[in-house]
Amino acid sequence: MKLFIDSADLGEIRRAVDAGLIDGVTTNPTLLARSAGAEGDPREILREITRLVPGDISAEVVATSTEEMLREGRELAKIADNIVVKVPLTPDGLAACRKLRAEEIKVNVTLCFSPTQALLAAKSAATYISPFVGRLDDISSNGMLLVEQIIQIYQNYAFATQVLVASVRHPDHIVQAALLGADVATVPPKVLFQLFDHPLTDKGLESFLADWNKLPKDRRGI
Ligand code: G3P
Repeated sequence: MKLFIDSADLGEIRRAVDAGLIDGVTTNPTLLARSAGAEGDPREILREITRLVPGDISAEVVATSTEEMLREGRELAKIADNIVVKVPLTPDGLAACRKLRAEEIKVNVTLCFSPTQALLAAKSAATYISPFVGRLDDISSNGMLLVEQIIQIYQNYAFATQVLVASVRHPDHIVQAALLGADVATVPPKVLFQLFDHPLTDKGLESFLADWNKLPKDRRGI
């Protein structure tokens, strides 16, 4: 399973790259606006991200009509070869998806909350479908059940669309995504670094080092 970072913060992305953890990046208008603040240029931030990470970088349109999404999508795709245009799961978004795919531009269809939406995205030749598991859990629905259903449907018909688990809230979402065989999980920085953590690892390391340091100083070197 590939791991993407769900962030537009250059510092966080650099940290994840240095840790050797990520295969790509997903951004959205909220994340980009937060990273740009009052002064920054979102396009420049996207360009910098494409330089930092060689994998797929999702950049979302903010238009709502097919025609405008196509214009924005083509502009975003010019930023770098590894840009994936993100469109919302609406009738206009899926029409834009089909046209962008015909131009060989990769598309991530976002804001997916149901299996029927995912079926339509695959039929529109989406490169990725992004089910938002955390936002479903937030309303007492079951985000991972949706992922399971999408994977089954895509397998039934050998759709090439990759399942990109989004809106991840905690490490167990990653465990469940990997057990189900999702293609990608996009992970917020905090959760990404939590994947390393286990208290028994810390405790074990502490006791190994304490025992080693009981040796006389001149015999501790390896
Ligand atoms: O990038 C899309 C998605 O991952 C957003 O997650 O935490 O805002 O529900 P969240």
